[in-house]
Amino acid sequence: MIKLPPLPYPYEALEPTISATTMRTHHDKHHAKYVETTNTLAKEKGLDGKSLEEIIAAAEKAGEKKLFNNAAQAWNHAFFWTCMTPERQEPTAELMALIGEAFGGLAGLKEKFVQVGADHFASGWVWLAVEDGKLTVVDTHDGGTLAHKAPTPLLVCDVWEHAYYLDYKQDRKAFLEKWFDTVANWEFAAHQLAAAQGREEAWRFAEAA
Ligand SMILES: [Fe+2]
Repeated sequence: MIKLPPLPYPYEALEPTISATTMRTHHDKHHAKYVETTNTLAKEKGLDGKSLEEIIAAAEKAGEKKLFNNAAQAWNHAFFWTCMTPERQEPTAELMALIGEAFGGLAGLKEKFVQVGADHFASGWVWLAVEDGKLTVVDTHDGGTLAHKAPTPLLVCDVWEHAYYLDYKQDRKAFLEKWFDTVANWEFAAHQLAAAQGREEAWRFAEAA
């Protein structure tokens, strides 16, 4: 059994970028449902003693699409909550050097991240990730995830409509711009970068107590 992780901050902590109403629905309804469905399906497949990362990998290997999508969504959302913080932050010097190499600076990264997220067709996720010491921005469709494969994710933003529609209506680009400027958790991104370099443990979905 996996457990719905609590938000790492109060519902209203990310206002005005993301409203408490959006956070309540997103976490308490959408994320909770992905966790519930994952538990039901994982039990049916004899995977209920496994970690969420193991369930995702096993479901993908077996071609169990419904289980994969729900398990990956359970993981992506928990990772997404961690990628946000009410404390406005700047990237660390180490991260900034890599951002400079790959995108010419923070403005260049923002432009790329917003463009990839805004251009993404339908539901999905936009990620800042690192592979072989180089930063990259990638998108995944629907429940597509970087939970169990390279590149290592540093940050992710949810571009499903349920993530922004109440606050921004159809304007996903405005949501992404505000998100990048105000709530991105650069301290967490630095931790994930250190993990990719073997200096720390990468973030994992919490084991059920
Ligand atoms: Fe979502």
